[in-house]
Amino acid sequence: MTTKTKAIILAAGKGTRMKSELPKVLHKIQGLTLLERVIDQTLCVEGIEGAVVITGHKNELVDDVISQKYCQSTVSTTIQSPQLGTGHAVSMAIPKLQNFDGNILILCGDTPLLTTEVLDELCKFHSESNSDLTVLSAIFEDPTNYGRIIKKDGKLDSIVEEKDATGEQKQIKEVNTGVYCLNWQKILPAFGTLKSNNSQNEYYLTDIIKWAVSEGLNTNAYILKDNNQSFGINSKEHLMQATKLLNERTLHSLLESGVSIYSPETIFISPETKIGPDTIIYPGVCIEGNNIIGKNNIIGPNTFIEGNVTTGDNVKITQSKLSNATIGNDTTIGPFAHIRDGVEISEKVRIGNFVEIKKSQIASNTNVAHLSYIGDSELGTNVNIGAGTITANYNALTKTKSKTILKDGVKTGSNSVLVAPVTIEQNSNIAAGSVITKDVPADSLAITRAKQQNFIGWVQKKLLQLKGDQK
Ligand code: UD1
Ligand code: CA
Repeated sequence: MTTKTKAIILAAGKGTRMKSELPKVLHKIQGLTLLERVIDQTLCVEGIEGAVVITGHKNELVDDVISQKYCQSTVSTTIQSPQLGTGHAVSMAIPKLQNFDGNILILCGDTPLLTTEVLDELCKFHSESNSDLTVLSAIFEDPTNYGRIIKKDGKLDSIVEEKDATGEQKQIKEVNTGVYCLNWQKILPAFGTLKSNNSQNEYYLTDIIKWAVSEGLNTNAYILKDNNQSFGINSKEHLMQATKLLNERTLHSLLESGVSIYSPETIFISPETKIGPDTIIYPGVCIEGNNIIGKNNIIGPNTFIEGNVTTGDNVKITQSKLSNATIGNDTTIGPFAHIRDGVEISEKVRIGNFVEIKKSQIASNTNVAHLSYIGDSELGTNVNIGAGTITANYNALTKTKSKTILKDGVKTGSNSVLVAPVTIEQNSNIAAGSVITKDVPADSLAITRAKQQNFIGWVQKKLLQLKGDQK
């Protein structure tokens, strides 16, 4: 049986070393803030019921990010002001968790590489060893600045901070990662006993261990296998390194699932993106946010997928930018296309060079092959959009946008302008260079340009006339 679990996530710190106006936990890695990454992984832990985030520095900004994404009954925030240490931070959550009877996971909001799998392992170890307090520890070649794990007869006895450690204790390479699993009701009284009589005058969370030991409770350290999991962000250098590590992790799991990647150092793919097997990712591709890419696609080179993009199978996207779009099977996009704002493109469609498509639906077997803007439009099947066709969807005076509807089989000539609102019925043709302001009935030709006149011999006549003038 899984134990009821809640999490406390510490995120009150300023993060001075980030040299930024933004609170540390709101910096982003591959499109998601550090804090969201921690919360998302935490909310997938077995038996988890919710999390309390401890905020402090610029708490309104942190509150905004949380309230926009999570339901308040699942993730709530509590302010810690002033910030008197990690033990003080956790005690801020006590009023909300006073009667909670289960396990409490404590984590920091600045460790974006920590995964649900490791948190699950920690909880499993905690329950299987009948532990009351388990610390997630790690063995670091260079343990400088971390709290050292002090053991007695193989049991966790205490954690000593670098600044309070003796020379001998500083030699210890097993460190505290700052992640804990507590049997909450048993450990709760510890918070009333914390004192700040240490070298930093802070209420140390780590002092709950000494208390638990003195109460005869079962305390343990669970050693992390992959040290990158506990990678904490304190600087922009760290942010860069963590981005690289997260990306490598994502690329490896994609390779594992049958995606081809040839130039990993130029490719960034968010862990939230799913990609089908036999898809090839060429150099210079950045894929952010939640996306579902189908099987056997060719993406890139030099393509930016910004989020909420779904592609079918056998789709080809070259040198283009896409966001909020659905692309059907066997469709090609680009080079140099921009697809955005809720576009739905069906199967076997060709969107070609220098084409922008915004908030439009395009049915199967339709071509928009060159130099077009299609906005707020519906294009039927087998439509052919001539080079340079523009939908004039925006009235700059009324500041309103209107629809252009092109039914099945419509063909537009090059350089035509369709002034919305306008509907072109089935199989009609628009002559090149026309400006269409009125609806066109089915099976018709619409032409609005002036009739062509040819002046035979005009050039010679003109030249003779010019010579005469010079004499
Ligand atoms: C702490 C641990 C140390 C461990 C290290 C792992 C203590 C006393 N020490 O070190 O053993 O090796 O984490 O990274 O707990 N925070 C608050 N409010 C505060 C103070 C901190 O919310 O008053 C938050 C910070 O924003 C941060 C986290 O707690 O997310 C850890 O604080 P930080 O100062 O980085 O940890 P250390 O005290 O250095
Ligand atoms: Ca500190």
